[in-house]
Formats: sequence, C-alpha cells, structure tokens
Amino acid sequence: MTDLLDKETDFSSMIDARLSRRRFLMGTAAVGAGAFLAVNPVAKAIAASMDSKLLNFTQIPASTSDSVVVPKGYSTSQLMSWGDPIFLDAPAFNADGKQDSQAQMKQFGDNTDGMSVFPLSKDRVILAVNNEYTNYQFLFSHQGKAMTADDVKKAQAAVGVTVVELVRKDGKWVMDPTGKANRRITANTEMHVTGPAAGHDLLKTKADPTGKKVLGTFNNCSNGHTPWGTYITCEENFDDFFGSVDEASLTDDHKRYGVVAEQSKYQWHNFDERFDLAKNPNEPNRFGWIVEIDPNDPTSTPLKRTALGRFKHENAAIMVNDDGHVVVYLGDDERGEHLYKFVSKNKYREGNDQANRQLLEEGTLFVAKFAMHAEKLEGEGEWLELTFGKNGLTKENGFNSQAEVMIFARRAATQVGATTMDRPEWVAIHPDKKHVFCTLTNNKNRGVKEGQDVGGPNPRAENHYGQILRWAPTKANHTSNTFTWDLYLVAGNPTVHQGDLYAGSANINKDNMFNSPDGLGFDNAGRLWIQTDGDFSNKGDFAGQGNNQMLCGDPETGEVRRFLTGPVGCEVTGLTFSEDQKTMFVGIQHPTGHFPAGGDSKPRSTIVMITKDDGGVIGS
Ligand code: FEO
Ligand code: CA
Ligand code: CA
Repeated sequence: MTDLLDKETDFSSMIDARLSRRRFLMGTAAVGAGAFLAVNPVAKAIAASMDSKLLNFTQIPASTSDSVVVPKGYSTSQLMSWGDPIFLDAPAFNADGKQDSQAQMKQFGDNTDGMSVFPLSKDRVILAVNNEYTNYQFLFSHQGKAMTADDVKKAQAAVGVTVVELVRKDGKWVMDPTGKANRRITANTEMHVTGPAAGHDLLKTKADPTGKKVLGTFNNCSNGHTPWGTYITCEENFDDFFGSVDEASLTDDHKRYGVVAEQSKYQWHNFDERFDLAKNPNEPNRFGWIVEIDPNDPTSTPLKRTALGRFKHENAAIMVNDDGHVVVYLGDDERGEHLYKFVSKNKYREGNDQANRQLLEEGTLFVAKFAMHAEKLEGEGEWLELTFGKNGLTKENGFNSQAEVMIFARRAATQVGATTMDRPEWVAIHPDKKHVFCTLTNNKNRGVKEGQDVGGPNPRAENHYGQILRWAPTKANHTSNTFTWDLYLVAGNPTVHQGDLYAGSANINKDNMFNSPDGLGFDNAGRLWIQTDGDFSNKGDFAGQGNNQMLCGDPETGEVRRFLTGPVGCEVTGLTFSEDQKTMFVGIQHPTGHFPAGGDSKPRSTIVMITKDDGGVIGS
C-alpha cells in the first residue's frame, strides 16, 4: 500500500485549521463555520480537499428507515441472524421465544459484535464472532418476566462466541452447518486462567479452589486476532450479569467495576449461585479479561490472559513491532476510565506459532497519560508502567503482588496518574504501523465529575458526540514510552451548534455528521471504517443524524463520508473482510423494528455482507 501517513505536515495543517478555528470562534460571539471558512485560508484548503482519492463511493444521506442502506453500486445480503442453526442437527429458529437452552446451544448467539475472518482456502474461511449480550424481550415469550432455571441456561447459551465456517458458492459467502470448526462458546464453556493472576486467592471460589478454571465468557464486546491465527474476545460489561437479593460483603474494588448486590436485569443469580454475590463474591474477578481462542480446534480450551489486565475491555488491536515484541492496544469503555498498552516479554517468531501462542502469557501493561495544553487539540503523551513495585504500585498503596495489579488494573491506573478518558472504545492500527486511532465515544460526566477535567484529548464538557483520537509512537516504535497525539475528528452537529467545539471539527459537516463513534477498523488500503453506537433520536442535539451508521475516513485528508445507515434502533458494530476485501461483513446489533425480515416480524441481530456490484474491493 502507499505510505499514506508519511506526511506529517498534512496532519499539522489539519490541526492548525481546527485550532485556528477554535481560537477564532472563541473571540467571536456568533459566527457560523461558513463565515470562518471564508476568512481562514487553512480551513478553506481543507474544505477544498474534501475530494479524497481513497474514498471512491458517493456518500449517502442520513436515514431513519428500517433497513440497511449503502451507496449506489453496492449491495447487501444477510449472512446469519440470531437463532440461525449452525449445526446440521440444530432446530430451525422459531420467533415465538419458546425454544429451550438446548436449541440455543446449537444456534447463532444474540447481539452480534466484534468478529474476525480466518482464511482456510480460497473459498473457505472460519468466522469467529462475539455475541455480546441478549435481549430478553425477544429471547423469551414472557420477555424475562417469568424466568425459569432453563431460561437462565438459554440466556447463558445466547452469549459468548460463535465460530462457523463459511464457504463461497457462486461468488457469495454462506454459513456451512457441516463446518468442522463450528462451535458455540457460552457462559458455561470451561476456560483456563493464565498469566500473573492465575491461581490467586481473589480468583478462587467454592466451585474452583484452584483459581485457574473458569466457566464461560460473556459480554464479549469487540475482538482482535493474532498474527499466529488465534481469535481474541474481550469481556466488557461483565458486572451486569452479577447480583444478589442478599447482603454481600463487597469492596470498593467491586464498586469500581460496577458490581453491586441487587436484583440484576438478567436474573442469573436467582437460579445459578455462581452469579450470586452473597455466595460467590470472587466470581466477578474471573471476568473482565482478554480471552484467546483457537478457532481451528472446536475442542480447544479458551485461555483468559490476565497479563493484559482486568477492566471493561472493548477490543484488542494487535501488531508485531519492528523489534519483534507484540504490542496490544486496549480500551476500557467506561466514563473516566483509561487507555492501555501491553508489550509482550518475548518476541514473535515467524513460522513458530507454537511459541507465539505463549506471547500473551507474559509482558508489561502500560496506561496512557496525556499532556494537557490549554486550548490545544494535540500534544504529547507517555505510557506508565503497571508493574508491582514500580510507580507507587506497592504494599503501602494497597497492592501486594502483580496479580493484584492486574485484577484491579483500574485502581493501579489511578495510582500511577493515568488520564481519565471519554470512554475508549475500539483501537485500530493503521496498516503503515505509524499511527493508532481510538474512538472516544462520549462522556456525559466530563467536566461534571471529580477527576474528569476538560482538556487534552477530552476537550468538551458533557461530551455527547465523541471524538477519534490518533497517536504516533515516537519514531514509529510501539514499545516506546512516548508518543504525540491529535484528534482525527471531533464529532458534533454543525446545524445545531455554531461557534464552539460541539459543532465538530473541520471535517464534520451537515452531510456527514454523526455521534458516538465506536467500532473502528482499517482495510488494507488504509481506509478507516467508523461505526456508531449513539443517539438515534434524530432530534435536538442529534437532529439530522438519523439512525446509527458506518462512515469511512481518509486518514490523510481528514475527509469522512457516510457509507452505510442501519435499521431502526440498531447499533452498527463489528466489521471484517474476506481476504480479497471484496466482501465486507458488518454487524447490525439489537435492531428494534422489524429488521431483517420486515413485515410484522421480530427484529434479530444480524451479520450483513456488503459487496460491490462490479465485484471490486469495498470502498475502491
Ligand atoms: Fe460493547 Fe463499549 O461497547
Ligand atoms: Ca462498542
Ligand atoms: Ca458503545
């Protein structure tokens, strides 16, 4: 690919434009972007350059329709919806909500999210996909109002990960129910704990006195995949699945992760004591991890990798640094939490995947601290090491071991002085390996709650639009402890706001505006795909933005164009490509209208496929 990001001057001119605009507007009572463009030559140049050579499709308008819309020259079809059978002996989906846990065990899980493709041959791939959580209003005929023990088992079978083989028939990918790799990983699949926290007292329970064997994974948000062919699933809002109607002895650390002893919305604790905090206060410590799965072997045991810290993991952006160390960037999606980086102790060995499979076992976790400069949307930053005995992570400060530093990574991050962020969601590494991008989706607490000051990469109080952060490791070395950063875009609404940052950055306009960037990924050509999970009311601050959507950005020029709009109520989340980049797989999660079947049908989370009518690469 071309070295798109090698022109630092282009970045600085964009930043100059934004800064100039902000400074200019701050000194002017009420002035629209148009007026600004007329007087600022730098911004004018940016506006004139909204003619990306990378983005070769015609932008579509915002939409409130109950369908997936893509640009002219593209088509969509459905790959798989919640409840579709993934084995030959699985029952067909029935929308009445009465199918039992055994049926759900053999069907595609609910709420499709992050996913990766693993090629097997030209016309056969493995698709591993997360099933984040489940919608009781559709999962059960009683909408969750009359739960039974089997209903809880069914809900536990509707989450986790689905692995299926896809075959290309007549040019189109279809799920193969005979695929040897097909597998459901659920909230009850046995997993092993590895790394510094394995076997620690805080991970021991009545059912598992070793602290090394955990049942299941859930709230699998986004994902990653390793150069050695394994799938990474990331445990996010695990706290939602725990509760109690009894008094439980919980600590401030439980609270920091949102774990509270009350009736939980999923009600698992009423039928499965593993989730009852009064009986098993350590069980939540066994979730919030990065999990590594061998997608090729349906009998393999997934591994919880505690060296990458415990928090509400969004995704894992993985690369091999030039020096051979594996670097993993990780976001913690909660208001005022942090952005992390893991560096493996050992080096990647080309062709030795048996050795490479140990790389996430040992390493160093870091957390980001950003330098704040008043009125600037760029600056420097550093990675602070989270190692027991260093940076105040000592007994005097309440940390007794590296295991505790990993189990309570959030507390460790606070101890070392990490920057609180506006909800870090997906991280994506540009294919040129010089820049890394992260969606900061929104944060209503910014400027409101203590410790969440406005500034640096989080420049707006009560930020309900979100922004995309970009950083460049010093000398493109991802094991360097320093970096520079800027904001690739600041989402906003220039038709509702003028004269402040809520209007958005210079690359946001009335035709491409959106809120709450979340899913993020590059294709091989360096196009940045941006998915949203935001306010789809189309009213007030969000007027004109329509349903959740997917956009595509040119990292060099800054231009952003809307590529896809989702159906009513959905979040657009999860993206991956076939190896030839001619089919794009996109997740439509929790639609609330009648997608995908239409009519009076119940909505179902669905993976859609996008192809170009001329058979070309998506976006080209
Ligand atoms: Fe599951 Fe932060 O999104
Ligand atoms: Ca997300
Ligand atoms: Ca989100």
